[in-house]
Amino acid sequence: MISPLLIALSIVALSIGARGRQTTVVPKPNFVPMHPASSTSSLQLTLVLPPTNIGGLHTALYDVSDPKSVNYGKYLSKAEAEAFVAPKPDSVKAVIDWLGKHNIHPQTVSPSGDMLRIDIPVSTANALLTANFTVFKDKDADVTLTRTLSVTIPDDVEPYLQDIYPTTQFIIPLRPKDPSFQVATPPPKLAKRQIGFCSSDVIPLCLETYYHIPAAPANATGNSIGVSGYLNEVPSEKDLQGFFQACRYDVTTIPKFNIVSVDGGVTSGVGTLEASLDIQYTVGVATDVPTTFYSVGDATATGFIDLANYLLGLDELPLVLTTSYSFFETQFEGTGSLPDTFCNVYSQLGARGTTVIFSSGDWGVYGLNPDGSCNTSTFGPTFPSTCPFLTSVGATTGFNGPEVAADFTGGGFSNIFPRPAYQNAAVESYLNTIGSTYAGLFNSTGRAFPDISARGVNYLTEINGSFWTIDGTSASTPVIASVVALLNDARLNAGLPSLGFINPLLYSQQGAAALNDVTSGSNPGCGTQGFPAVQGWDPVTGLGSPDFDKLLALVMGAQSSDF
Ligand SMILES: *[C@@H]1O[C@H](CO)[C@@H](O)[C@H](O)[C@H]1NC(C)=O
Ligand SMILES: *[C@@H]1O[C@H](CO)[C@@H](O)[C@H](O)[C@H]1NC(C)=O
Ligand SMILES: *[C@@H]1O[C@H](CO)[C@@H](O)[C@H](O)[C@H]1NC(C)=O
Ligand SMILES: *[C@@H]1O[C@H](CO)[C@@H](O)[C@H](O)[C@H]1NC(C)=O
Ligand SMILES: *[C@@H]1O[C@H](CO)[C@@H](O)[C@H](O)[C@H]1NC(C)=O
Repeated sequence: MISPLLIALSIVALSIGARGRQTTVVPKPNFVPMHPASSTSSLQLTLVLPPTNIGGLHTALYDVSDPKSVNYGKYLSKAEAEAFVAPKPDSVKAVIDWLGKHNIHPQTVSPSGDMLRIDIPVSTANALLTANFTVFKDKDADVTLTRTLSVTIPDDVEPYLQDIYPTTQFIIPLRPKDPSFQVATPPPKLAKRQIGFCSSDVIPLCLETYYHIPAAPANATGNSIGVSGYLNEVPSEKDLQGFFQACRYDVTTIPKFNIVSVDGGVTSGVGTLEASLDIQYTVGVATDVPTTFYSVGDATATGFIDLANYLLGLDELPLVLTTSYSFFETQFEGTGSLPDTFCNVYSQLGARGTTVIFSSGDWGVYGLNPDGSCNTSTFGPTFPSTCPFLTSVGATTGFNGPEVAADFTGGGFSNIFPRPAYQNAAVESYLNTIGSTYAGLFNSTGRAFPDISARGVNYLTEINGSFWTIDGTSASTPVIASVVALLNDARLNAGLPSLGFINPLLYSQQGAAALNDVTSGSNPGCGTQGFPAVQGWDPVTGLGSPDFDKLLALVMGAQSSDF
């Protein structure tokens, strides 16, 4: 799990004046203005045009994802999904004409045409948006951002332009160093392992044993997993081979993976921690499922949205997309429609039949003050785990005894996205169980996370030739992705569609019954014990960990009339 350390919460004021729609923000005091941005330096901005029918997309997503629906699994084609989000022609015309008057020629960066990108000098941006782009330094994170405290969208363009970012949004990009990784000393040179080994180090054999995950190679035509990579972290083929030789000695032909660059991400290099972990626990668990690593060169919200748009442009999407990086949701509060824009790309992927999976974070219920210290007045959710259209994965521990919540696992409630209907029963039951505990520290009406979990402690990983053990939701997340990919394999072989957006299935009575309920442990943070894991769903381990046999029976046998 990699994330910025510090929060940049902006307070937004919106006003519609004679000149247009003005947005002004007051950044948190940790952002100090340094100097006006150089007028000739280049700014890359993304313009989001209002979607034609986003509500229709969400309805269609639930219709194809709800196992009770007769349309379950009848995913939207590329053209059908795009029709919901495509901008209206008058929006495109208004925005292009406005930019044209400033001699700016945008590039379309989403397949539906709802996002345009411009690279313009600061002086042009200041004139276009009545802005004052300034270099701000986050004094704690040692990060600089070029932002403006005010933008104005002229009246004649205002109805046709939903958002333009990054302008007034103070969101710290992902950063490479994060102390939440607990990297142990490399274990001695590995020999063949027995299952008893799992109490100190986890290898795929342990996961096969605990979750009944098959070791047999997948073989369905059209199956696939995508792994998101940021920060120029790439996995190495050589490390994967070393990992298989030490940890998957049952496999004779070691599978390969592809690397695709998005936003100029690097495609080769010395294996690094997150990328090695994510590839070894997808390729190493979902045996023979074709796997593509997407190396994204932009570690801001833009890069996340760009990756989704890249995938949405494909005719054949990866059937699972797993991401072990995230932001703090507080950074997205007060950023206008950016959280919706970010979340909606995942609703498009789900509607097309891709299961989108994110780690829930490694900070328990941690909330952050602007100075980076613990915020004891509220818990801090992780983003985009709070997006209702994806599956958030927590972590557990306990190998020789019962599975319990890992104490670092991220979980909680959104302050931005309301609770989706599929969570109502599960979350209300939890809220009744805890009563008034932590009242005021979290938002009980928000989308709650995580949805599911798996063991996430002591994962043995080869990085640049040496073995390390790694803890985190970064470890559990690719395992859930692998489980979904292997379930997809059985479904594809039986002529059934991929599982797509799995939350409505997971939260059904039958879905929950196919998981191992984790009922003890908690996720401490900010001087509290954190949320307790209880019977049923909890904001620590979600609905529980997978039981592959039960899930397989469910996804192979079930008819819509069974739900
Ligand atoms: C623009 O921002 C700079 C700080 O970068 C500030 O010194 C200057 O007064 C601002 N100009 C206007 C017109 O607000
Ligand atoms: C594909 O894999 C399944 C599950 O392991 C197996 O039962 C089946 O025989 C395999 N099919 C082929 C053609 O190898
Ligand atoms: C803690 O976070 C909340 C929500 O972001 C914020 O309203 C509050 O001011 C923060 N507390 C402190 C002491 O900064
Ligand atoms: C609580 O979450 C809802 C969304 O469910 C949001 O509209 C509301 O502003 C949040 N309240 C606070 C205090 O953040
Ligand atoms: C990778 O391993 C090689 C060989 O042991 C070593 O020379 C190099 O410094 C390592 N690189 C990094 C980034 O750790």
